[in-house]
Amino acid sequence: MKNIVVIGAGTMGNGIAHTAAASGFEVTLVDVAGELLQRALATIAANLQRGVDKGKMPAAEKVAVVARIRTATDLEAMATADIVIEAISENLAAKLDLFAKLDTVAGPECILASNTSSISITKIAAATKRPDKVIGMHFMNPVPVMALVEVIRGIATSDDTFQCVESLAKQMGKTAIEVNDYPGFVANRVLMPMINEAIFALYEGVATAASIDGVMKLGMNHPMGPLTLADFIGLDVCLAILRVLEGGFGDPKYRPCPLLVKMVDAGWLGRKSGRGFYSYA
Ligand SMILES: NC(=O)c1ccc[n+]([C@@H]2O[C@H](COP(=O)([O-])OP(=O)(O)OC[C@H]3O[C@@H](n4cnc5c(N)ncnc54)[C@H](O)[C@@H]3O)[C@@H](O)[C@H]2O)c1
Repeated sequence: MKNIVVIGAGTMGNGIAHTAAASGFEVTLVDVAGELLQRALATIAANLQRGVDKGKMPAAEKVAVVARIRTATDLEAMATADIVIEAISENLAAKLDLFAKLDTVAGPECILASNTSSISITKIAAATKRPDKVIGMHFMNPVPVMALVEVIRGIATSDDTFQCVESLAKQMGKTAIEVNDYPGFVANRVLMPMINEAIFALYEGVATAASIDGVMKLGMNHPMGPLTLADFIGLDVCLAILRVLEGGFGDPKYRPCPLLVKMVDAGWLGRKSGRGFYSYA
């Protein structure tokens, strides 16, 4: 694999593009508007600069990594892509629409991977005529730092596709862990109920946000508390994942806390909007 197309230049897309380019791949980063792409490139350059400042990377390498990332607002780059990694918003209709389009513009051998946190890979694959080449490649946030890629096999994903993606993850310095396609896979099936329960504890007045996070940090040795983590992930993303778990299993134990719903309604999405359980002025 040489050419990687990353679609969606938000929190995850810019991290995936950064990591792929730093691992030597030619990357095209695609989003709907030029200014979003410029912001993503600025974020990548600033994150790389931190490595330069700490003496972990020569300044010339930073320049070379950024130069390996092209940007586009259309799907033309798809024709020469070896793999597309989709990282657009966690919205089923948007992902189905995009994968149907990708299937028509990407070369026949191109693998179509989704970074979805919870949406069925089998369902996404069914929007294409190449379900054997569709797979989940679920990076963790922040991508340049976190070692795991959860690799999700849809019902029709081929062994060849799995092996290509496992090897790509390795070349990007990550460890792939194989999981099957059920709502939330493993990472979010375990993480989101914990975050939701922390929000319920806040909602019911059991403790303040800082105290809930303090208990989990000091008592369970978690590097960050669940409410800080929710702000970091994005409260809209957390809510979307809980809805997939709730709908997918039909089990009320995944019911999102009303406080989470209200905060998302208010546009309090966590770090990215400047306000969530904490303020990021
Ligand atoms: N935020 C996390 O911690 C996290 C972790 C793992 C996986 N994910 C998953 O990664 C995906 C992206 O999440 P995010 O947090 O980066 O979201 P985000 O909101 O930060 O970014 C999404 C980007 O996709 C773009 N976009 C939307 N529709 C598009 C389209 N049709 N074509 C091109 N670009 C489009 C938006 O303009 C935006 O820039 C989601 O599926 C999410 O569930 C998120």
